[in-house]
Amino acid sequence: MFIGAIGCEPLQLRRVHLENSHSLDVYRANGGYEALKKALDSMSPDDVINEVKKSQLRGRGGAGFPTGMKWSFVPKDSPKPKYVVCNADESEPGTFKDRYLMERDPHMLIEGMLIAAYALGAKTNYIYTRGEYKYLIDIMDVALDEARAAGLLGQNILGTNFSSEIYTHTGAGAYICGEETALLSSLEGYRGHPRMKPPFPAVSGLYASPTVVNNVETLTAVPDIITMGGEAYQKLGTEKSGGTKLWSVSGHVNRPGVYELPMGYDDMEKFIMEDCGGISNGKQLKAVIPGGSSVYIMRADQIIGKDVRMDYEGLVAGGSMVGSGGFIVMDETVDVFESTKNLTEFYKHESCGWCTPCREGTDWLVKIFKRIENGGGRDGDIQLFLDLCDNIEGKSFCPLGDAAAWPIQSAIKRFPEDFEKHILKN
Ligand SMILES: Cc1cc2nc3c(=O)[nH]c(=O)nc-3n(C[C@H](O)[C@H](O)[C@H](O)COP(=O)(O)O)c2cc1C
Ligand code: SF4
Repeated sequence: MFIGAIGCEPLQLRRVHLENSHSLDVYRANGGYEALKKALDSMSPDDVINEVKKSQLRGRGGAGFPTGMKWSFVPKDSPKPKYVVCNADESEPGTFKDRYLMERDPHMLIEGMLIAAYALGAKTNYIYTRGEYKYLIDIMDVALDEARAAGLLGQNILGTNFSSEIYTHTGAGAYICGEETALLSSLEGYRGHPRMKPPFPAVSGLYASPTVVNNVETLTAVPDIITMGGEAYQKLGTEKSGGTKLWSVSGHVNRPGVYELPMGYDDMEKFIMEDCGGISNGKQLKAVIPGGSSVYIMRADQIIGKDVRMDYEGLVAGGSMVGSGGFIVMDETVDVFESTKNLTEFYKHESCGWCTPCREGTDWLVKIFKRIENGGGRDGDIQLFLDLCDNIEGKSFCPLGDAAAWPIQSAIKRFPEDFEKHILKN
């Protein structure tokens, strides 16, 4: 398994191969906590927010919202406590980058969260993760203890008058608890149901107080932004999307792994065929889901010879999205009808059941897949799929409904032959 950078110097992954990379000693010996010191010694909270704005860092959890702008929505004059919540749920299928960051460089997350807490005036902060990632919480708890003992966390951090605490919290393991408002409900002890937006968490989040929810990869980018300055960080990527991005590559490539690429890496074909070692077993490329299971599936001919640029605008132009960077590669043996059925079963299982279009719609979709699979395909089934998706997409309470509809819509559009083959089987 490859873990490293291509096309740039490793930034977020630069310490992960060091022995004891998770320890405070190794982190500090390699520049760790210098950014926090710089922020506390010489920058005001607004200075920190401005650097993050200049960096053009966009949220790495899936939606790509500009981080500095999100932070500036937190009302400064609110009498309520403020919170920074790290979304470490990593629930998107195909996505496994955050866990490497936490496992191998947990202090980078603590430092990023503390800088965010300083910028926003948060005294209490949480790292929320899925039940299945309990081992990561154990790693994070050790790192938090180390930081506390070294005066880097808790009261009067680094001898200043800034005090802030970080706690870890595990959910039971539900995809919907990665959605930020469901995560906050779960953190408060309720069922992980999403909440109406607006109000957005920045104004009314945890315990109805101003809250910033950010992904692990987003928060771990912050120390380098402070160290090198927002402008230098932006220049590593593109004008609208600064820095580097982690891609977790799985499926039929010779070298799966976690790849750090500059934002705007200019050729997705080269990335698959050279950097990831090409398609395994000498097979041909058939399809790629580049950003986790909730984005559109791409055909090989949308990639080969097309110079698809790997950033937000480039992937939209290429017919998909960056999403969470869960890059799933499929060879010519993959039956897209079957893989889409698997994904739909996942969404049916993970629907929280709160709203009818998603709860009932995903159930109907799975029933149709199974009927067709069992030889009961009928004329009009493709239209039936599309009608059902149309009644889920945009009509559900939260984006999980859209996420269930998009794989089917794009798979039918781009691989109709795989659906027709099954429908016409009888
Ligand atoms: C169904 C669903 C699942 C999600 N799962 C995650 C997740 O596991 N991790 C994550 O960071 N964001 C996830 N998100 C996105 C979050 O709602 C939110 O946009 C993100 O945590 C914000 O952080 P960022 O601005 O740093 O990206 C999910 C969204 C949806 C709709
Ligand atoms: S869209 Fe699905 S996951 Fe979201 S609230 Fe409705 S039932 Fe729950």
